[in-house]
Amino acid sequence: MNYLTTIFRDRYANSSRGVKAAEWLKDEITSAATAANRSDVSVRFVKTGDNYMQPSVVVKIGLSNEPGVVIGGHFDTLLSYPNDPKPGADDNGSGTITVLNIAETLIASNLSFKKPIYIVFYSAEEEGLIGSGFVVQDFLAQNIPVDAVLQLDMTGFSAQNDQTIYFIQDHVNKPLTQYLGRLLTHYVKKPIGTTQCGYACSDHASWDDAGIAAAFPFEASFGNDDPYIHTSNDTMEKLSIDHMTDFVKLGLAFGIEVAEPLRADSK
Ligand code: BES
Ligand code: ZN
Repeated sequence: MNYLTTIFRDRYANSSRGVKAAEWLKDEITSAATAANRSDVSVRFVKTGDNYMQPSVVVKIGLSNEPGVVIGGHFDTLLSYPNDPKPGADDNGSGTITVLNIAETLIASNLSFKKPIYIVFYSAEEEGLIGSGFVVQDFLAQNIPVDAVLQLDMTGFSAQNDQTIYFIQDHVNKPLTQYLGRLLTHYVKKPIGTTQCGYACSDHASWDDAGIAAAFPFEASFGNDDPYIHTSNDTMEKLSIDHMTDFVKLGLAFGIEVAEPLRADSK
């Protein structure tokens, strides 16, 4: 997290640092797969059209072609200037590192699943959900079926130390959102809340537009979220690692429950 917001601050989708951040994420996944001696993990870039140099990063855990599970968040920031850097710690270094932690834990676990788990780091969200638009198109064009999508965008800020996880209610699938609420209560044992953006505020909307079920657990109620996002003050020390860890637990519960672990000897 510190690494992402210092070395890889300023991850604007049309910058070479933004591309380097994509390469770093790809390398982190490749090293995790090598360390766990797994050959059923693949990573690829999905191009963000012709106007942005930063690709999205799509990881597939497992070899099955059944309808899969997607866990993702965007890793780009807004454009920065020398006197106005964009660390993008909460928006969305927090979600990026939450997703990376989920991926690394799943890979290291050596579990295999009936359904594939796709881990996606979206580019160019801040430019208008551009990267996720291209990722959804890529899945549709390749006929890659998806059962359920978990969006993680801003997982680190907890207003007045409120540990509640708030489920966004618009541009999402209602039954999937309710199911995640039950997973939260059962596995994470933290309070549950609801809130809404009121507009297509993140990449879940790209999946929802394609008719694919998405859910979006969020750090705070809308309006009580991190006031520093999109500024040079969106830095790490304002964030709660404990709050982020709860999203890692929720994402793991979701991935494991929906993808259905196989017995170790049935690989
Ligand atoms: N992480 C934000 C979305 C967000 C902000 C959700 C505050 C809830 C509370 C996202 O990166 C973002 O900035 N979205 C844009 C819209 C997008 C289509 C460019 C926004 O909210 O203005
Ligand atoms: Zn943003």
